[in-house]
Amino acid sequence: MIPTKKQCEKIWQEYNIPAPIIKHMELVSEICVFLGERLEKRGDKIDLEALKSAALLHDLDKIMIGRNERNHGFLTADILERRGIRELSGMIKKHALANITDATNKPEAIEEKVLFHSDKIASDKVISLEDRSFSWIEKYPEAKKIILEKLPALAALEQEILAKTDLKFEDIINKFNK
Ligand SMILES: [Fe+2]
Repeated sequence: MIPTKKQCEKIWQEYNIPAPIIKHMELVSEICVFLGERLEKRGDKIDLEALKSAALLHDLDKIMIGRNERNHGFLTADILERRGIRELSGMIKKHALANITDATNKPEAIEEKVLFHSDKIASDKVISLEDRSFSWIEKYPEAKKIILEKLPALAALEQEILAKTDLKFEDIINKFNK
């Protein structure tokens, strides 16, 4: 089953998800819908309801895993699967940064790519991949090399999505940062 927004809100409450994480997931979900609707209009087949809900729940495990990024996404998928929500697992398991260059767990389906990209350009507002990477490096200086290694693949994914949606990055900024 694909949870509704109301059901997602109940899950946030149940796991005491902090307000800033909720705000981030809501922004990611809005960006996903914006991009997903553009893709749909241009002829791509995309499961918008699943994408929207996956975005609303993708960081559920953030406060549970702490710095153990390796499990990020997998724990959320487990929690949701135990509740009978299986349709979102692929998107959620593949959304962590490291997966972009992981041969076995990188985003491939269009919904997986859109969620991955939308998440990377959303803090509490839309931010460029370069600026987001710098803010990660400030927060996790020990991961600087890994973060910089991922940037070209991230930029390539962004180009793919912008080309498919016929958007410029500024269009996304203008839509969401008012
Ligand atoms: Fe996120």
